[in-house]
Amino acid sequence: MIGHIEYLSIRMYRPNLRRIPQYSLLDGFGLRFFRRGDRKTWLDIWQTVENHERVTLKTFRQSLGYDLPALPRRCLFLISPDGHVIGTATAWYERDHGQRWGRLHWVAIRPEFQGRGLSKPLVGAVMNLMRVLGHRRAFLITQTPRIAAIRTYLRFGFRPDISTDEDHRAWRLVHRHIKAVPVSM
Ligand SMILES: CC(C)(COP(=O)(O)OP(=O)(O)OC[C@H]1O[C@@H](n2cnc3c(N)ncnc32)[C@H](O)[C@@H]1OP(=O)(O)O)[C@@H](O)C(=O)NCCC(=O)NCCS
Repeated sequence: MIGHIEYLSIRMYRPNLRRIPQYSLLDGFGLRFFRRGDRKTWLDIWQTVENHERVTLKTFRQSLGYDLPALPRRCLFLISPDGHVIGTATAWYERDHGQRWGRLHWVAIRPEFQGRGLSKPLVGAVMNLMRVLGHRRAFLITQTPRIAAIRTYLRFGFRPDISTDEDHRAWRLVHRHIKAVPVSM
């Protein structure tokens, strides 16, 4: 997307899951949950949006597949009007300092469907799902060049988690490309 932004990891969090912005899907688009065999579906999307060597079956196993029974209630796919799977996002979970956190994880939309605003209903559905699953707070990890993703997360009320000098540097980079994003809450 924006190849010239230095690649630094950033973390964002939402201290509560109240007042999640709601966005309707465009006409004809739909959502469905992960089903048996969908690791291929997931991998296919991710290998289309990223480098094939970077996202592999091992990546899937290490980040989601270690709890396969959780996926049919946590991983969503976005479906196009002609029935193709065109995106995915997951309401994952982690423990941090004894607290249970929802984790917005692995959000992607196929390149030919990007830039049409579809990330909003997809992320919104996953945020609603986190709440339904009993989470009270959420975080995510992303990287500085992912400007469309960061805009979406800011819109959903995620805040930058800035604690180290490296975090400051990363957010200075991001702010060069994102001046202000209205929080839709
Ligand atoms: C991140 C991703 C899901 C966003 O979906 P999308 O369809 O491209 O984005 P949308 O059309 O919904 O737009 C989301 C926001 O980003 C902005 N945007 C979209 N494309 C952009 C681009 N190329 N550069 C900068 N901003 C962009 C939109 O204007 C919108 O901002 P706004 O709400 O303030 O108007 C998609 O780009 C993607 O799959 N990227 C590759 C994988 C990835 O980076 N995933 C995130 C992992 S943390």
